Amino acid sequence: MNASAKAIINLDVEGPVISRHLYGHFAEHLGRCIYGGFYVGEDSDIPNAGGIRLDVVEALRALNIPNLRWPGGCFADEYHWMDGIGPRSERPSMVNTHWGNVEENNHFGTHEFMALCELLGAEPYINGNVGSGTVKEMSDWVEYLTRDGDSPMVRLRKANGREEPWTVPFWGIGNEAWGCGGNMSAQHYADEARRYATYCRDHGDNKLYRIAAGASNDDYAWTETLMKAVNCLGCAKEPRGYFQGLTFHYYTVPGPWSDKGSALEFEVDDYYATMVKAARVEELIAGHAAVMDCYDPKKKVGLILDEWGTWWNVEPGTNPGFLYQQNTMRDALVASVHFDAFHRHADRLVMANIAQTVNVLQAMILTDPDSGALVLTPTYHVFEMNKAHQDAASLRVDVASEGTTRTVGEDELDTFSVSASTKDGRALVSLTNLDADSPLEVDLDLRGRAVGGVRGRVLTADALNAHNTADATGVAVQDLDGLAVENGVLRVSIPAHAFVTVELDLV
Ligand code: AHR
Repeated sequence: MNASAKAIINLDVEGPVISRHLYGHFAEHLGRCIYGGFYVGEDSDIPNAGGIRLDVVEALRALNIPNLRWPGGCFADEYHWMDGIGPRSERPSMVNTHWGNVEENNHFGTHEFMALCELLGAEPYINGNVGSGTVKEMSDWVEYLTRDGDSPMVRLRKANGREEPWTVPFWGIGNEAWGCGGNMSAQHYADEARRYATYCRDHGDNKLYRIAAGASNDDYAWTETLMKAVNCLGCAKEPRGYFQGLTFHYYTVPGPWSDKGSALEFEVDDYYATMVKAARVEELIAGHAAVMDCYDPKKKVGLILDEWGTWWNVEPGTNPGFLYQQNTMRDALVASVHFDAFHRHADRLVMANIAQTVNVLQAMILTDPDSGALVLTPTYHVFEMNKAHQDAASLRVDVASEGTTRTVGEDELDTFSVSASTKDGRALVSLTNLDADSPLEVDLDLRGRAVGGVRGRVLTADALNAHNTADATGVAVQDLDGLAVENGVLRVSIPAHAFVTVELDLV
């Protein structure tokens, strides 16, 4: 007998709003994310605007990506922004010591990034350099980007062709300060973060949301140290606190760091071990949130997971420093499980950024280095199917399931995951069946509002490691027909290893 589940959704009881920024993205100067991914240069045969690939922009616009983090990652803490402005032919080069030890010509810099954000309709999230930079360098960058009127940095910006200031809402103060961002202790970094944040000024109407570089995985002590450092919350001098958000990073890596496993070749046991790691994100969000609650019960400080996703061994034959990996149905289900956890913690988790958008780690888009062909990954489709959750009110879902728990090593994994939200007279329910082999029958008990039309979509494939290439794009979204609400109950049949969304018109 197949497993079954029942989920009760009160359509008229709205919870916290799911920030659209939970669907954020990340573009680092790493491998072929920027060069060859987003940016090909103006002389490329690939259609572009000022060097930015238009096919990539078009594909990403369909996701409504809310924000884009740049220039790193580890790269952020060795990036000197002044090297990336002015005529491209005159920009100095540097060595990207973190990622492949390759030369970086700085042809993609501040103006190119801001143009990319404008093309995408995404808000910029710029990550400043604490590890090898200076307070003045960061302060000048903020002034260059956001100040109006007349000042040294404004004159420099205008000389480089940009008259008006840009709007930059999100500002990162370093990255992974416990590691590649300077190998600091938590207390040392907390002091530095306050110092840097002090000089990242709000110019004119531009109000910065300053983001402190947070913990790795379950380092709750790091979060506690940062929460003590933000302590001016609500005081007259710094009513918004020194920084407004703090991060943590969590990657889904089932194997040891030295051998993370192949993106494409894995056994069913590896698949389940991956899902256990993916589901753990909820424990980590809850853990960091609990620490924050002790110091900030009114939830003024946002928790931000600005790097998440799968991290596999690089594809054979590719540069180990470029972190290029394929992307399968397994990756798509990692994403859908993460989003359910994000939705459930929308009261504290205000932003999340998948690592990374193009050609690096769990990418939405892969581009061929030779032909330039663009491929949409299974993960891309999860982002697209879920986009109506952005800025929707979360709906609590109560689940009773039979036979959806399985033992994986020493862990228990629930192979059914679900979340729901409502906006503009509609509700979106996301349902994941993680079982590798068996379909799942789910009865959605829809209470509180009558339901009119129902539309379903499904993402699945024959094999767990099904993926897309330039020649085979079979992992794609299909309509899920035959859905009807009877006596307030909607029965949804979810195939094995599949992700389903159901959109309901509320009457
Ligand atoms: O996303 C790749 C790298 O992972 C980032 O540069 C760094 O912040 C993290 O360790």
